[in-house]
Amino acid sequence: MAPKGDSQAKLYPGRPPRLLYATCMLSVIINLAAFWLLTGPRIQPNDFAELEMPYLYSPAQHAVRQIVVKFTRGLADDIPIYERHPSTEVDEAWRSLYSVAENKISEAEAVKMPNHTWPLYRMPGNYMIALDVFHQLHCLDMLRQRIHHSSNYNYTWVPISHLRHCIGAIRQALMCASDISTVVFQWSEQQQIAEQRDDVLHMCRDFEQIRGWAAEHQFVAQEDDFNAVHRH
Ligand SMILES: *[C@@H]1O[C@H](CO)[C@@H](O)[C@H](O)[C@H]1NC(C)=O
Ligand SMILES: *[C@@H]1O[C@H](CO)[C@@H](O)[C@H](O)[C@H]1NC(C)=O
Repeated sequence: MAPKGDSQAKLYPGRPPRLLYATCMLSVIINLAAFWLLTGPRIQPNDFAELEMPYLYSPAQHAVRQIVVKFTRGLADDIPIYERHPSTEVDEAWRSLYSVAENKISEAEAVKMPNHTWPLYRMPGNYMIALDVFHQLHCLDMLRQRIHHSSNYNYTWVPISHLRHCIGAIRQALMCASDISTVVFQWSEQQQIAEQRDDVLHMCRDFEQIRGWAAEHQFVAQEDDFNAVHRH
């Protein structure tokens, strides 16, 4: 007795059922894949704009995480350490925000950056960089110190040209990030007006995660690292 498959093959000469079966399965798979691509949760129509975003490499890109952060108003009932009156404790809190600034990266990472940077001659194969967030925070601290300079607190005197540079750095950083979190207006019984409330939720990059990346890649800079002694 011939197997059942053989007899069917004879009924439909030139169209072996296995090929038909395979074609049907392939068609089902392609249709499912197309359906998933078009309707799946991973890609929504608005995301296509994001996929076409311009892209610049950063060695810290893998440290980027999105988190929700509630901002503080810094008013009487709500003053974080950074906005308090100068003290060694406040100064230390600010310094620790950006003390991780100087980082070393590998040559493989350095060549992927949009701009070239200086080699760390003491540690061959390494290159020196800083993440701009730490430079921007340092700049804001310079402005803070200048504001409090008269209040019996003795900060290093920073020339106005440096402060102008800092205002520009912070302005461009704010415009670059263009935070679209929504400040709201709510009735204040005390003031009898609808007052602005910016103690709201924001979508943020996780600063601690990025600071952690920088801390892992930190090197303690020496004067010579920036000097011409290494120029050939
Ligand atoms: C960085 O690269 C951009 C694009 O090539 C260039 O316009 C800019 O001047 C460069 N900056 C430095 C400091 O190399
Ligand atoms: C500020 O610094 C000067 C010079 O170092 C010092 O003589 C003075 O006592 C300091 N003032 C305060 C308030 O720390």
